[in-house]
Amino acid sequence: MITEILKIDENSLKRAKNLITEGKTVVFPTETVYGLGANAFDTAAVESIFKIKGRPNDNPLIVHVHKDYDILSLVSFVPGYAKKLAEAFLPGPLTMVYKSRNKVSPAVSCGLDTLAVRIPSHKGAQEFLKYVNLPVAAPSANVSKHVSPTSAEHVYYDLKDKVELILDGGACSGGIESTVLDCTGEYPVILRSGLVSKEMIEREVGFCGVHCPKAGERVLSPGMKYKHYSPDCPITLCDTVDEALRYYDNLQGYKSVYFLCEDCAAQKLTGKNILNLGKTDSEMAASLYSALREGEKKADYIIAITPHCEGGIMTGVLNRLKKACGKG
Ligand code: TXA
Ligand code: MG
Repeated sequence: MITEILKIDENSLKRAKNLITEGKTVVFPTETVYGLGANAFDTAAVESIFKIKGRPNDNPLIVHVHKDYDILSLVSFVPGYAKKLAEAFLPGPLTMVYKSRNKVSPAVSCGLDTLAVRIPSHKGAQEFLKYVNLPVAAPSANVSKHVSPTSAEHVYYDLKDKVELILDGGACSGGIESTVLDCTGEYPVILRSGLVSKEMIEREVGFCGVHCPKAGERVLSPGMKYKHYSPDCPITLCDTVDEALRYYDNLQGYKSVYFLCEDCAAQKLTGKNILNLGKTDSEMAASLYSALREGEKKADYIIAITPHCEGGIMTGVLNRLKKACGKG
């Protein structure tokens, strides 16, 4: 199979619609990361997503729809707080989990009675979803466990010859995956932190829980139990620049060691190889995955340094960075 990368226009959208309706997959851009999409009503097509990615078959998928899609045709109940949050943040990087009407293939939610729904704000994603006018099940378009893709080139590196079409919408502005929010209870609960932060949600609806499963407890968002976001080279996380330099001094047998850190830490590491995440929270979110992918190409060892700011979207950034480093 030859993988084509096409800019989004009338022609490529037509081709994308044909592929999706034939039960094939199409990669499309979103404001967070690229998604590997298939028709959510078509079980064989949804199952092929799991095969292409090598994804464990108990990790459910998010369904993507355009902004005018009737969500109540897919889910049975949208609580008041969820309507308020949808009003405030959608289209955007917030995925909401509802009780399912079981209209899409059971393969989407891996047999759970809930359905995760996302309305991306990316212009190209909206065009694609509007054009196909179907719910599109899509995980991030990377090989399972690898770093999520924030450009068409990242997708090509992972899925070359495994998908027919990558719709190229440029670099993703957000850079980490959407917040996954359980909306089946009395109040919202964050299952995966992301670009819509707990603080932002609480400003709208007063209270938001965070699901942190204890050892042995059932995980509500199955994806969170797996190893994720890892570059193809060893990586370690240090808390401070001093700790990172000590680690570096003791590291033996590596020829190309890179420090992955925020800009203010980079300033203290003159003469060293740097993967600079930038200065602001949103710069760090947007650059994290491309820095990890650049790192695995150039480095034979990455020493990451924890950025000093916490809360807001940094909760999501730190969560991904820790997972990439095998911690958390
Ligand atoms: O930003 C994003 O969310 C990207 C883009 C492509 O939209 N998608 C993405 O999908 O990150 P994926 O498959 O890599 O992660 C989906 C997460 C997983 O942690 C999964 O367990 C959780 O959402 N999830 C999906 N359906 C669920 C459900 N019914 N209940 C609880 N968690 C669910
Ligand atoms: Mg993923």
